[in-house]
Amino acid sequence: MNIGILISGRGSNLEAILKANKEGKIKSNIKVVISNKEHARGLKIANDYGVKAVYINPSDFSDREEFDKRLIQELEKYSVDLVVLAGYMRILSDVFIEKFEGRLLNIHPSLIPAFQGLKPQKKAVEYGVMYSGCTVHFVTKELDNGPIIIQAVVPVLPDDTEDTLEKRILKYEHRIYPQAIKWFEDGRISLNGRKVYVKDAVYGTLPTNPKLEDF
Ligand code: GRF
Repeated sequence: MNIGILISGRGSNLEAILKANKEGKIKSNIKVVISNKEHARGLKIANDYGVKAVYINPSDFSDREEFDKRLIQELEKYSVDLVVLAGYMRILSDVFIEKFEGRLLNIHPSLIPAFQGLKPQKKAVEYGVMYSGCTVHFVTKELDNGPIIIQAVVPVLPDDTEDTLEKRILKYEHRIYPQAIKWFEDGRISLNGRKVYVKDAVYGTLPTNPKLEDF
């Protein structure tokens, strides 16, 4: 399977995925990393791992759709089967989502459907929830609301700030995302409406459901 990864920034999830790939836990070919930000740290990480890193400048395009068509073209160059959003901070147009629906994944640092959109960790702290976490889900046209593959739950502590909660959640992001990708490449994920089922996974566990196997 060929994978393309879209990023906009720091690239810590990208790094976790590249590391899992290097260690042979994820077996697919990660063909290309594309950023809409020229100075995204993730581009450097991709280079360090010897993966093709491409910057595409949104201001070279008249609108979102034209930009996304260029993205599609780049991904098609590498016959990408799965597109992974890893901190990609741009809304995708319907053209893009329709093209890759069912093979387009995202990670969001909350237990969706809570705290969708921007700054979910800040929203969780301000709301006063006792638990938050992260979610790997399929991308649909509704923002941060597609079918859920795996979630990890972490406690929110009385003196947490956006920053401390972010760090606690991030550790799990780096485990559940590579795991979900591995399940996908192994053909274990099936979708029935909104519901995702991972074949032979162990359900009913904490802090992740289903249970992590490899990460
Ligand atoms: C992560 O918290 C991810 O869940 C969200 O954006 C952040 C990206 O971080 N979608 P990084 O670029 O992977 O370090």
